[in-house]
Amino acid sequence: MCGIFAYLNYLTPKSRKEILKLLVGGLKRLEYRGYDSAGVALDSADGKDMSIIKKQGKVKALEEEIFCHTNLDFESQIQSHLGIAHTRWATHGVPSEVNAHPQRSDSEHGFVVVHNGIVTNYKEVKTLLTQRGYVFESDTDTEIIAKLIHHFWVQHPRYSFRELVEQVVQQLEGAFALCFKSKYFPDECVATRRGSPLLVGIKTKTRLATDHVPILYGKDDLEYTRKEGEAPSQDHRPHGRDTELPVIPRSDSTSEFQPLEDKEVEYFFASDASAIIEHTNRVIFLEDDDVAAVKEGTLSIHRLRRCMDDPHAREITTLKMEIQQIMKGNYDYFMQKEIFEQSESVVNTMRGRLNFQDNSVTLGGIKDYIPEIKRCRRLMLIGCGTSYHSAIATRQLLEELTELPVMVELASDFLDRNTPVFRDDVCFFISQSGETADTLMALDYCKSRGALIVGITNTVGSSICRKSHCGVHINAGPEIGVASTKAYTSQFISLVMFALVMSEDRISLRARRLQIIEGLKNLDNLIREVLKLDDKVKELAKSLFQHKSLLIMGRGYNFATCMEGALKVKELTYMHSEGIMAGELKHGPLALVDDSMPVIMIVMRDPVYKKCMNALRQVTARDGKPIIICEEGDEETKSFADRALEIPKTVDCLQGILTVIPMQLLSFHIAVLRGCNVDCPRNLAKSVTVE
Ligand code: M6R
Repeated sequence: MCGIFAYLNYLTPKSRKEILKLLVGGLKRLEYRGYDSAGVALDSADGKDMSIIKKQGKVKALEEEIFCHTNLDFESQIQSHLGIAHTRWATHGVPSEVNAHPQRSDSEHGFVVVHNGIVTNYKEVKTLLTQRGYVFESDTDTEIIAKLIHHFWVQHPRYSFRELVEQVVQQLEGAFALCFKSKYFPDECVATRRGSPLLVGIKTKTRLATDHVPILYGKDDLEYTRKEGEAPSQDHRPHGRDTELPVIPRSDSTSEFQPLEDKEVEYFFASDASAIIEHTNRVIFLEDDDVAAVKEGTLSIHRLRRCMDDPHAREITTLKMEIQQIMKGNYDYFMQKEIFEQSESVVNTMRGRLNFQDNSVTLGGIKDYIPEIKRCRRLMLIGCGTSYHSAIATRQLLEELTELPVMVELASDFLDRNTPVFRDDVCFFISQSGETADTLMALDYCKSRGALIVGITNTVGSSICRKSHCGVHINAGPEIGVASTKAYTSQFISLVMFALVMSEDRISLRARRLQIIEGLKNLDNLIREVLKLDDKVKELAKSLFQHKSLLIMGRGYNFATCMEGALKVKELTYMHSEGIMAGELKHGPLALVDDSMPVIMIVMRDPVYKKCMNALRQVTARDGKPIIICEEGDEETKSFADRALEIPKTVDCLQGILTVIPMQLLSFHIAVLRGCNVDCPRNLAKSVTVE
């Protein structure tokens, strides 16, 4: 999980300064994906070599290095040129300049590469290359890629750049997205992916000669449905190559894809759309094993192997994303903006799906599958982190409205256990990014066992969208802050809508459904009310930010808020925090409670109110001084509180959407007070594309 950005201008003169600004600007947009070091590579001023500038730390540090400490002949103009750039989240090798990308093949900079993901067989390849005289300078798995392409270039001097890359990727195991630049192939770019996202943005002055040939599925970008019978993913990787690197025959399917031709053209390669949207909204989402090559301004896309079901071209998609959506606007932090956007994002999740006139719910992407889902043996909800919490938050309602067994699973643990999965299971994969490696592996696992795969994601064109049989886009809009906020509430609502769809013909559940739909109708107003607590929450944060620990207790529908609140506190503030099921208090956690341990308790007037009050009394009896999140005007509950946050009441099963917001705000304010980096917490990244 790193950020790749590359910019190729063909017959579009740009100064070196403009190119560098573009590269650094792209990296800034991708910084949430990784931020321990960054680097760029561009042609040297005389065009005979490459300049590689790398810096440990954030992109800002790289920017200063480039513009304050180097003399890169900023003003000279270049007609055609490729620059590649990278922001890193360390996996192999500590964050340092030498481990930062681009990684190079040799001191002459024959080939340089930027990489997102992990090459799992890098040790074997490294041993082979070392035997052939290559000397490694970094601890990264990426360096073997740069040296391997050099090795093939020496062996096959007549191969094109693209063919060399194809040779390389067929030797690699693991998940990756790669972008290559070479001194021997000036102004050419080759990029490829397997298991990590990569897209190509295209900017032309005139309309493109080739527009698009649809290969994505679904009616529009709100819903997506995939037909059965898609090509199984192929494993092209040769095994047992500890003695020799075999040369794979050149690919045979290039004619399947039409090149895009235009005279003056600019191309952008990026890990996600947020990095290119300010330049162009015309993109191609690359698929696994696509090799995209730009030569003399022409883009062509090649497949490593011909598959029967391969489409004939890649669609050029017009992004609907607006630049404002990825800017902070009047807020100081993306996370803050995203918390405050929730009154709108929840409406966007429901838009076009919930009809408040006739109280109907339609999820276009899964509607054809509903009969099959109703016949299933059980529902499995699988995700990681916040996405997993959205499953916990809605499990009770799903059980109630579907009357099916509902299993909620952490993707990593699910895989560790080799959980039995059957053809008549329906497996939901919940993921904001749609690219989380653990979730994707669990998806592959369930799919190979014949289960129906339903994706719940926020990212159009993501791997989970493409691999699912059907799904729901949560439409929360781009979420840039590493801490997930608005995606959580939108995932929550998407799963509630699914429960409503499943129960639409149940007379006995009619009143309950109407109550929930009514609750959803007014949710945006109630969220606005909760957001007004911001100043009060900030005051609370001032009293908590120097503590070492924070316990958050609740049960029933609000247990998920405790887990999610504790995760937010941990990841943003680096304080210890634990979400505790109030029913478990007397089985251990009560020992932590005394007059100095900060405790937050969520006590709503729902079916577990009495039980929560028991827990509350247990805490106050140990001199605990609970901060209580309770219903507006609930004086009785408030009388037990040291301090209280009152929030409006909604339907019990939706209350978690309102109780989580004070926790999001609290973690945010504590992080600011502790001087933590709110949008980019240490050691983390937005999209976790490694195991
Ligand atoms: O993109 P995903 O929803 O699959 O990501 C899963 C987790 O990595 C993510 O929710 C993580 O827990 C958040 N940073 C928490 O705020």
